[in-house]
Amino acid sequence: MIPPLLISKVNSAKSVAVLTGAGISAESGVATFRDPDGLWSRFSPLELASMDGFLANPDRVWEWYEYRRAIINSVQPNDGHFALAELSRVVPQFTLITQNVDRLHQAAGSRDVIELHGNLIDNHCQRCHAPHVFPDQDILNGFTQKKLPRCSFCGGLVRPSVVWFGENLPTDALSSAEQAALTCDVFFSIGTSAEVYPAAQLPYSAKSAGAFVCEVNPNETILTPFVDFHVRGQSAQALREIVTAVKAEREFQK
Ligand code: OAD
Repeated sequence: MIPPLLISKVNSAKSVAVLTGAGISAESGVATFRDPDGLWSRFSPLELASMDGFLANPDRVWEWYEYRRAIINSVQPNDGHFALAELSRVVPQFTLITQNVDRLHQAAGSRDVIELHGNLIDNHCQRCHAPHVFPDQDILNGFTQKKLPRCSFCGGLVRPSVVWFGENLPTDALSSAEQAALTCDVFFSIGTSAEVYPAAQLPYSAKSAGAFVCEVNPNETILTPFVDFHVRGQSAQALREIVTAVKAEREFQK
């Protein structure tokens, strides 16, 4: 399933960039968005992932993010997350860019992860943007008393630090991701439908700049016709096989 060309490309690369999406966490038990049983088939992104939706019904939005926080607190990284952390220690320069908000890459030992869409752990004030740290229990207690978390500085509503539809991505994260895509030798697009911009632009930027682009996904995506190789499989097993083969070839060449 893993072609020797891909392994030698990775082993000769000075720089490898990886973009991950919800699919890499699917085998940990975190739902994707656009698969038939995905979150957006059951919930409305306009109601739950937009500022208008939040202002219209902040209780409902908080409840949904609490539900998602409870899920990520109960799951573990899978072999795909661990394999990428391992690869980062083998390749000279390695950049891990994720659209995921679950922090499972960090839990698997990856460092300096570029979070394009924020994360489910942090919160900030929607009015003055001050960061707010709430122990989960406080939030839950707040809910039982039907009280929404409020900013201790300005009294504005506190919201999860996840990027919502219509909002800009964090500037530093996006420019670091673009830089990595434009300068890498190998680019992996893993577990993403590659439909949400600007993240979805990254593999095309990498390809135009001359990188070898590999997709890891059990399904075809809109990106598939443009990649140099499509590993058609689930990411936990595929990434484990890729990293094992990369390390074996390195050992052989010593
Ligand atoms: P999607 O739900 O759009 O796509 C998930 C992809 O994962 C699909 O292409 C699946 O085929 C693939 N997949 C499923 N199981 C897999 C597995 N075991 N291994 C590998 N791939 C698998 O999720 P994203 O592309 O991440 O934005 O969605 C992008 C953004 O849209 C998300 O970050 C989120 C959403 O709205 C925000 O929350 C801001």
